[in-house]
Amino acid sequence: MDRLTDEKIISDVKENNELVTVISEYVNLKQRGKTFMGLCPFHSEKTPSFTVSREKQLFHCFGCGAGGDVLTFVMRMENLTFGPALRFLAERAGIPLPEVQLSPNMQKRKAERERLYQLNAFAADYYRKVLWGTQTGEKAAAYLETRGISRAAAEKFRLGYAPPQWAALVGLFRKKEIALGEAEKAGLVCGGGEGFYDRFRDRLLFPITNARGQIVGFGGRLLGDGQPKYLNSPETAVFQKGDSLYGLFQAREGIRRRERVIVMEGYMDVIQAHQQGLDEVVASLGTALTTEQVKLLKRYTDQVYIAYDADAAGEAATIRGLDLLAAVGVNVRVVRLPSGEDPDSLLKKEGVEAFQRFVDESVDLFTFKLAYILEQEEIATPDGKARAVQRVFPILSQVKNQIMREAYLKQTATAVGVSETTIYDEWRIYSYNSRKNKQRLDIKNNQRHTNDITYQQQPGILPAEKNLLQLERQLLRGCLQEKDFFTRIKQALKEIKFSAPLYTELLHQLVEWDVSGEWPPPATAFPPETRALYIELLTENTMNPLPVDVEGCLKRLEQHQIAEEIRRLQREVAVSLDLQASAPTPALDLQNKLALLNKLHKKLREDFPTFSGLR
Ligand code: GTP
Ligand code: MN
Repeated sequence: MDRLTDEKIISDVKENNELVTVISEYVNLKQRGKTFMGLCPFHSEKTPSFTVSREKQLFHCFGCGAGGDVLTFVMRMENLTFGPALRFLAERAGIPLPEVQLSPNMQKRKAERERLYQLNAFAADYYRKVLWGTQTGEKAAAYLETRGISRAAAEKFRLGYAPPQWAALVGLFRKKEIALGEAEKAGLVCGGGEGFYDRFRDRLLFPITNARGQIVGFGGRLLGDGQPKYLNSPETAVFQKGDSLYGLFQAREGIRRRERVIVMEGYMDVIQAHQQGLDEVVASLGTALTTEQVKLLKRYTDQVYIAYDADAAGEAATIRGLDLLAAVGVNVRVVRLPSGEDPDSLLKKEGVEAFQRFVDESVDLFTFKLAYILEQEEIATPDGKARAVQRVFPILSQVKNQIMREAYLKQTATAVGVSETTIYDEWRIYSYNSRKNKQRLDIKNNQRHTNDITYQQQPGILPAEKNLLQLERQLLRGCLQEKDFFTRIKQALKEIKFSAPLYTELLHQLVEWDVSGEWPPPATAFPPETRALYIELLTENTMNPLPVDVEGCLKRLEQHQIAEEIRRLQREVAVSLDLQASAPTPALDLQNKLALLNKLHKKLREDFPTFSGLR
């Protein structure tokens, strides 16, 4: 990569996007002397700890540690990786951007991905031609007709048909002198050494695209009955199960315009919906929503409607997916369809207005869960009422907002048919008990009586840091302050380990850079995954230039680790004790563990003479 031009572009973009101005588009900033202050957009707070320096063109939150330059800010705020954030700001300032700059490794991977997109597009084109332009394709076209899919809708989603032969696509690739090994990497052909053959045969093909419209894989449906009904592409460099949302590319505009998305289950649902003018529809492809899909959705809207088949909607996995959505702050509503129908069948039979009525009658997540419980319990009986209420409480305890919880309690009382006073009383008992149970569990985990050591329940003297991650972060900051610090930390960390994978990754990357000298390395030396963190750390160092107490941090990290080891041993000892409660003397293994525990305790006592136990 040409690092110089890369740096030049980045600094151009930064110079033309003044930080205070950019941030003011998102955060209400007040000037205080040289800096600007406001409420941090990255964590919730009541008093401002988010500061922006116009002079340094850096921001930093003293509450959550977020910080960096204008690029970091946009990455976090707009949920973008580095390249797209650069483009975002370039566009904002009207700077024309050449191709995004990448490291050689990333360039290579990017080229590989591009190749897979190409091959997929090539195959999709071919399958499309077979569907609409050949005699073999006629039965697939007829099938689409029976499913009520118009040619226009099919074209919008680039549907195709894979003919029944074993080597139709293989033959075409050979003719075009496209390496079959590559086609295999794209998941289009199989067989490798044994002789290649087409993966998809005699199936209606649904190209699956990413949000930019590049084809990442295919789903293939049998024209009749049989198993498996759908065959998908295998996982490839561009296709990972659970990463994509079917139809997102076609739905992007509709989602923005209507400020909502409707998530359905299947290919057919999406195409039927779009055909009938519901163009804010995507599908999760038969799985419960994954974290990736949730992130993707949140980029486009905060309002998600779920329209799954009646039976699938209540499944535990589905609910977990919906909880994931709610957890990132998305407003989730569930559309309840008549049992036995999916959106496709409903839209076909009754049309878009009927479907819209179901959307209008959608319910929030709590109401949905409540209704599901009420369906299963016989709430006409006193027994059933009590059970239903006990099943609702764990859900309610997830609701942190008191006002909402109170509203839900009322709703539950009405739905189950008990008085509000009764349900409040029961709720108080429930939450008291669950707090006590949690405490009891904590004690049980920490306070174990063994032959010669009594673990006392005492406020821990260890460790001063509230947060192990903060400690590790300080060390990483130290790494960037002085090369000597880095050398020392690198050596010490052979025995001590970071707990956060991202920190470990950044450290490895620092070690790799080490050979070439410049310190600290330029941010462009890092891939997007670690670059944001790296910039954050540099910012913290600029804002807080005092040298990190490296030795102290290392010592405390080691203590943390010993404490962790003690906890692990305690658990093991406790299990062994339970297992051989009746045995007269502890087994050898147990004795060894107890000895080790003693040793570790001694070691900690050297640093903390009053140490007597762990929290
Ligand atoms: P039709 O039966 O043609 O209406 O398809 P559908 O899209 O309504 O399928 P269904 O509701 O049965 O399943 C929903 C989604 O789950 C499908 O669109 C597929 O993405 C996925 N799916 C269903 N069956 C299979 C299967 O046999 N294999 C795989 N890999 N996925 C499947
Ligand atoms: Mn269906």
